[in-house]
Formats: sequence, C-alpha cells, structure tokens
Amino acid sequence: MSKSKSVFVCANCGAHYSRWQGICSECGEAATISEVLESAATNAGSQAVQRALSGFAGQSGSGIQNLGTVDLSEKPRLSTGYSEFDRVLGGGIVRGSVVLIGGNPGAGKSTLLLQTVGILSERNRVLYVTGEESLNQVALRAQRLKINAQNISIAAETSIDNICSMACTAKPEVLIVDSIQVMHVQGIESAPGSVSQVREGAAALTQFAKRTGIAVFMVGHVTKDGTLAGPKILEHCVDCSVILECGTDVRYRTLRCQKNRFGAVNEIGVFAMTDAGLREVKNPSAIFLSRQDTVAAGSLAMVTWEGTRPLLVELQGLVDVSLYSNPRRLTIGTDQNRLSMLLSVLHRHADFSLADQDVFVNVVGGVKVEDTSSDVPLCLALLSSFLNKPIDKGTIAFGEIGLTGEIRPVPYGQERILEAVKQGFLRVIVPYDNAPRRTLTGVEVVPVRRVTELMQLI
Ligand code: TYD
Ligand code: MG
Repeated sequence: MSKSKSVFVCANCGAHYSRWQGICSECGEAATISEVLESAATNAGSQAVQRALSGFAGQSGSGIQNLGTVDLSEKPRLSTGYSEFDRVLGGGIVRGSVVLIGGNPGAGKSTLLLQTVGILSERNRVLYVTGEESLNQVALRAQRLKINAQNISIAAETSIDNICSMACTAKPEVLIVDSIQVMHVQGIESAPGSVSQVREGAAALTQFAKRTGIAVFMVGHVTKDGTLAGPKILEHCVDCSVILECGTDVRYRTLRCQKNRFGAVNEIGVFAMTDAGLREVKNPSAIFLSRQDTVAAGSLAMVTWEGTRPLLVELQGLVDVSLYSNPRRLTIGTDQNRLSMLLSVLHRHADFSLADQDVFVNVVGGVKVEDTSSDVPLCLALLSSFLNKPIDKGTIAFGEIGLTGEIRPVPYGQERILEAVKQGFLRVIVPYDNAPRRTLTGVEVVPVRRVTELMQLI
C-alpha cells in the first residue's frame, strides 16, 4: 500500500515545497504555507464528476475520432447579449468552455452575471448557482434590475458534487458558479477557499464542462494586490480568465481579458455602473478623454491599442523641481521602468535633462496602458509640462521610442489615425513609418523620425 505523502502548499500562489518555510519564495507572502495530505486531495474532484456524470446519458470520453469529421453542426458560440462582453470573450460564449471572472468585492461580478443570465435565458437554458447570497437576495436584486426571471433556474448550493448532479438533471447550456472560493468538494478535508478545495473544485468543473458541453462561468476572488486568489492552477485550467476592474472613476468598470483560448487577450470591455445595474459603454474613447475646454501644459491625448481596437486616452505628465537628492519618478497606468528609460533617451539624444526634477505620469480614468505607443505622447507631455507650453486640444500622438533616439512604428498605425479622426482630432503626431502614403482630408499628419524633432514640435 502506498504511504500517504504530505506536501507544503502556499495558500496564496499554490507553490509546492517539500518542507515548511515561513515565507513563500514564489510570491513572497509570509505565513501562507501549510501542510496538505496529497493522497487525500488527489482525484477527489474528478471522482465528483464521475459520480455526477453517471446519470448524464450519452456523455462519455470521445475516444479517437478524425479531426475532419468532428461534429460542428451545433452553433459554437452563444451571445451574452452585451457586445462588450462578447468581444472580451472573443466573440461570445464557447460551448463547453470555462470562464473565470475575477474582481474586487463590489466590482459587480454577480451583477454582470445575473444580467447576462437574464438575457441568455430568453433563448437558452441557464442555471445560476449562488454560494454567497441567499435565493432571496438574488431574487430581490433581479427584481430591482428588472431582469426577466421567468426562465432562470437558480440554486443556493456550495457542494461541487451537488452542483454537477443538479446540472446533469437540469441540462443547462450555461452554468454560473458564484463563487469558486466558497465551494467544497466531497472527500477533501480542508476548508472552502483553501488551495486543495479551489484546485479540485475548479478541476472538477472544468472536466464537467468539457464532458457535457455546458459553458461554465466561475467567479473568483482577487487578493489585495489584484491577482486572482487561490492557486495559479486555477488560471491554467480555465479557457478564459477575465477581470472586472474598478478604476479611479468608480462609475466605470473595465472587463479585461487576461487569458483566452478562443480569442485575443488584452481585449477590454467598458461598463458603467448605474442604479439600474451595469450598462455597456459602446464608445469608451469618449469617456477617457478629458472634457475640459481649457488647455493645460503637460496633458496630451494618445491612441493606444487594446486587444482588437484602438482606445483614446489622456496622458498627463508633471515635472517639478525636486526637493530631494533622489528625484521621484512615479507612474500611474504606465510602466515605471519605461519612464526611466525614456528620460535617459531624452537626456542622451535630445540633450534634455530632468535629473533634478520630480517626474509624475498619470493615465486619466484609471486605464492601464501597456502598449509601447505611449512613448511619444509621454515625452511630449513631459516636455510640455517642463517648458510650461500647452499642447493644443486637437493634437493626439502615438509612437514607440528606441534606445538610440529613433521613433519606431507601432502596429495598426492606419487604424489608430482613423480612430483619432473619427473622434475629431485635427493633428496626429505619428512615427514616420506609420504615416499614410496618401494625404487624409480634415487632419494634419505630422511624421517624426527622432526624439529631437519632438522638442521642435513644442
Ligand atoms: P456585486 O455584483 O454584488 O459585486 P461582486 O459580486 O463583484 O462582489 O456588486 C455590488 C456593487 O455594485 C455594489 O458596490 C453596489 C453596486 N451596484 C450599483 O451601483 N447598482 C446596482 O444596480 C447594483 C445591482 C449594484
Ligand atoms: Mg458577488
């Protein structure tokens, strides 16, 4: 008989160790490592699915098939009813897929899923399982949000075994589990929310979705630093992981895709939280741009690229004399290391030094810009702030800056320019290689090749 082995697992990131240690070397959290009996945990989740599936007629492992003859007659994707949500998922809900929705408490995960279920239930069978709220609470919210609750099946349940067997009976097309952290799998000793419970629960639901073709949405909590709580394996086993974020403007929520097996990642959808629930924002560029009429030094609009579409945001830079021997470099919404790099490029190639100045950069509206096309607007905003010369309102910019001081083209240059024109901008500063071959009417395109030219522009 094999001896039951114990491992030490970090409750924050799920890293395994052979002996106990005080601080997790993977994630740096203290006192999160505890002993877990390995044999007790293995396979409890898949046994749960096996037990449930024994009552689900006609479903079993598919055996060996020819890829060309796999049945595709069923419509592969369902629409959530929100084009923003559909786009984040890569064009709708894929049958048999598992989607993890993370977010801070109060971000609106339960609201979003309840509203989605309300629309979906008009055409498809849905089952909403709530482990956090009572049936009364959900019903009250549905009533207040004026959701058509006629066709929504709902259950208050925290056992994965029961959820799987209920789903086998009800045969929904979409199953919602709110949330994975309160669920438990029969046969595992540890408390709900612990690493082994979350891991086995998620694995069981994933296996269940694949075997039955039911699309499963799981709600996941996030830790204080904004990453999904529970083991990393949670993100590995799901098909799609999205985060509902609340930026600095509490009215707006952005739905951001971090992993997607069926579409582009980094896709965002924007929602507004109103007293009647979440409402989608079809033209997010308009809300992230400042509505002020006066022009101030240090502010500039830029075109970034999010997933499959351009997004216009306002970038602000502030340069001020430093009172410390170590001047501060602080960014909100962009990469801090990239700012240091750009300051060096400006110094070395444009003879422009900010060594005795504090430098702050902020992306308005709580948007996170990971695109390198923010380099040119960022430098322009800093120059504008330092020289105290405002850039006029109709100007927008994008472009990457290389270490030798050259301005490099970015992908989708044409689309970015067209989006800027659509939003009414009159002057677009672009990398030389992104400039359109033919002249565009109604907009002045200013191609730039080197950082020194940025100085002349201001
Ligand atoms: P909820 O979906 O319960 O959040 P989560 O499940 O992510 O924890 O959302 C609750 C928040 O949304 C709460 O802060 C209040 C706000 N809200 C509104 O502003 N309007 C509404 O109509 C609803 C339902 C919620
Ligand atoms: Mg909730």
